[in-house]
This record gives sequence, C-alpha cells and structure tokens, in this order.
Amino acid sequence: MIDRRALLAGLAASAALGGAAGLVRLGSAPAYAEALAPPGEAASGRTVNATLVAAERPRALPCFGGVRLPMWTYSPSLPVPVIRLDHGDRLQARLVNRLPRPEEHTSIHWHGIRLPNDQDGVPYLVQPPVLPGESFDYAFTPPDTGTFFFHSHCNTTEQLGRGMVGVLIVDGDTTEPYDADEVVLLRDWRVNLEGGAFRPMVTLRGAGRAGSYGTVRSANGAVNPSIALPASADCRLRVINCDPTRVMDLRIEGAEACIAAVDGVAIPPVPFDGWQTGPAMRFDLVLRSPRSGRSASLVDVGGDERVELARFAGTGPDIRAGAFDPRPLRAARVPEPDLAAAEPLAFTFADDSGLALPEATTPPGFLGALCLSKASFWTINGQMWPEGGHEAPPPPLAELTLGRSYRAALTNRTLYDHPVHLHGHTFKVLGSDKTRLPVHYADTVLLRPEETVEVAFVADNPGDWMLHCHVLEHQETGMMAYLRVA
Ligand code: C2O
Ligand code: CU
Repeated sequence: MIDRRALLAGLAASAALGGAAGLVRLGSAPAYAEALAPPGEAASGRTVNATLVAAERPRALPCFGGVRLPMWTYSPSLPVPVIRLDHGDRLQARLVNRLPRPEEHTSIHWHGIRLPNDQDGVPYLVQPPVLPGESFDYAFTPPDTGTFFFHSHCNTTEQLGRGMVGVLIVDGDTTEPYDADEVVLLRDWRVNLEGGAFRPMVTLRGAGRAGSYGTVRSANGAVNPSIALPASADCRLRVINCDPTRVMDLRIEGAEACIAAVDGVAIPPVPFDGWQTGPAMRFDLVLRSPRSGRSASLVDVGGDERVELARFAGTGPDIRAGAFDPRPLRAARVPEPDLAAAEPLAFTFADDSGLALPEATTPPGFLGALCLSKASFWTINGQMWPEGGHEAPPPPLAELTLGRSYRAALTNRTLYDHPVHLHGHTFKVLGSDKTRLPVHYADTVLLRPEETVEVAFVADNPGDWMLHCHVLEHQETGMMAYLRVA
C-alpha cells in the first residue's frame, strides 16, 4: 500500500522544487523498429470513400440472445463498420443523419486522429451539428498508423449506447506481417432483454458516481465468443474498450502475449501482464495463439468477479515452433516534447462540491435540448462545462502557443476513475504517482482516484481541442473543457 500522506508530501516537495521528481519514472523507451514515414511524405495518392448513415436498425446481436433491439448504427454491418486505410491514404467519409428523432443531431469525432481541427467532429465548436436529413463530408489523411475508433460528440451516451460506433484502422506499421490481425471490440449494453428495450443510458445515480454500467457484456457483439486463430501463431489483437462507462482490468490467460501499441502508437513489445483500460482506450497485443484444439482467454479482473470476455481458439496446423519473440511495430512520428523547455500545466478533475450552480445558459430553440447536460457533477480546474451543452462553449480552459511543448499534471481529486482524453494531439505519458507504466504515448489516459499522471505534448495542431473524461456521463455532466492552440 502506498502511504498517502508520504506520497502527498513527496508530491508537494517535488512541486516546490519546480519538477515532479516524486512521480514514478521508468527508463526511456528502447530502440524502435524502423520508423514510419513522416506524415508529409506518407501520402499515397489513394482516397478511400466511406458512407456512414446514422439510422435506427433493429437488430438481434448475438449478445442480445435473439432479441431485437432498436439499435442506432452507422451501417448495416455488424457489430460495427470497420474502415481500413493504408498509411498515407486519404479518408473521405460522408455522414448522413437518418436518425428517427426530429431533434437528434449528430457528427463524427475520429478519436485519436491528429487531424485538422475542422474535421474533429465536435458540434458547435468546430462544425455545425448535422440534423436529421442532413449530411456532412469529412476528409483527412491520418498522419499516424494504428487502431482508432469513431463516435458522435453530443448525446454520445445514448448514440454510442445504442450502437453508433465504428473502428478505423490505419495499416502500415508492421515490420513483418503477423499471422492474423483481429479487432476485439469490448463494450457493455444497457438492455432489458425481456422487454426488448434499452435501459435509460443516463441515470442521476450513475452520472454522479462511476457511471451507469451495462447489463450485458460483449466482445464483437457476442458474449464470450470463441475467436478462431491459426494455431501456435503470432496474432495481432486490436483491443478497443468503447464502453461508455466501464474501466476494465484486462489480462490474457493461457497464452503468452506482448503489448505492442497503446492508443495506436507503437511501443517496443513488452510482456503483457494486464492493462487498466478505461473507455476509449485501446492497445494492440501480439499473442502466441494456443496450439490446435486449445484456447486462451481475455479476461477482465477489474470487478468483483473475473469475467471472461473472449476466447482465442487455435485452429489448423501449428504455424510457429520457435520461442515467442514478436516483431515490433514501426515507431510513430508523434512530435517529441522538449521536456527541458516545456511549460507546465495543471488540470485537476474534481466533483462540484462547493461550486454554486451556474445560471442556466440554454439558448432558446430545440437544438439546445439535445446536448443539454441533465445535471452537473464534475469540474476541471473548478469549472464545469456550462449546462447549455456544446452550443454554449465557455472560454478555453487554457490557451497554448502553437509549436510549444507542454507538460501537464492531471490530478484526480475524486473517488472515481476518469479516463482523460485530449483531442488532436498524442501525448507522452511520463509517469504516475500510483501506477507503474512503461513510457508510452496515448490520447486517453486513466486517472485512478487521487492519482496524478503527468503527460507531455507539443501543441502543434492549431484549433480548439476538447479535453474531457471519456466516461460519457461524466463528460455530459460537466467534466469537459477545451484547450485553444494558436
Ligand atoms: Cu472519444 Cu471527445 O472523444
Ligand atoms: Cu470521469
């Protein structure tokens, strides 16, 4: 057990010294495999077109046990659409809103992609909301390879809760092909299977605490599916937690595995001994699959009981006989923050105790009703996002200078977990005062209760970029802000 008082004293002392020497730091990353082409040079000249039609599509996913539920999805493909690009490809995606509710506007946020601000999909802040009957065209060339996903950015609790999510994979990071490449999309569903209906996605009880948990857990739309892999092979598993709420403590049982990338960004493969995976967090594993006829499991040990989420079954002849020594992925071209010159920032995630309720700022008209926070519970640096929702943005939480390096201390002063996400940038996770993590890059980092995590990044992408908790009910009840880079 960590002695909290000693820890806080240590932190205070290191803060007084002007640094953060009290944070746990591990050695710098060992040499990577040959790096990716720089973003500017990666253009392939190829454009990939996608049409995403947000609509109600009643479906019986395997995890619904044959019951049809009024899902909202981007396409008829189940469980979700997967868009695959090669590094350097341009994505041209048309979003069409055919949602059945007259006021239900939407947009697409391409989570983790370092794209131009006007393609970031945050309604009101960077683009107009897309009303039913309307469409919006996105176009960008992702600068990085890896495993990403996309979702809406208003009423996300319900839109994602009913199924509106998709996977975006940018290929081109392997140094030698793996023997298989599978997406493992983890999420719960808040459903009442007897009644064939979704449960309310937002509850006051959940929003003010850890969030409203789902009632059915799933991997790729099924309960504990068996995923066939070639036997005794080095298989890439792209694990995505796209749950609105649940933090998972994921382990592999019955096989050797290495973690090869976090939030799409390669790290030198290190043996996988579990990863605390909050909503929106991803990691790529290389798993030496079991021999033919045997299986391994992905389990969540974060709750009261161990839950098996998916099984991996070895099938066919053994592919590899040698020791498990997986090939690394190519190093990313995320700009390296200059830690010596970095300007310090501090963001504290807290509840609203002691804060007076702000005047309601809801503008007249029906658009206001959808993004409207139902209540406010959470703050960043003592400010809560105004109850008007996205359409009444407050001033930026911080104004950053384009091109400058920043190191930000992210502190959780609550009893609950907060996976904190910054748009448009990929940050380096420098260390935590609670958890030991390998040095890695991420777009979302988990803050456990009373934990401080330090991250650093180069503010190289101009625009207004959201900084928020990815427990969607926390985001929608105050724990949301934005940084202006100019
Ligand atoms: Cu995945 Cu602002 O979100
Ligand atoms: Cu949160």
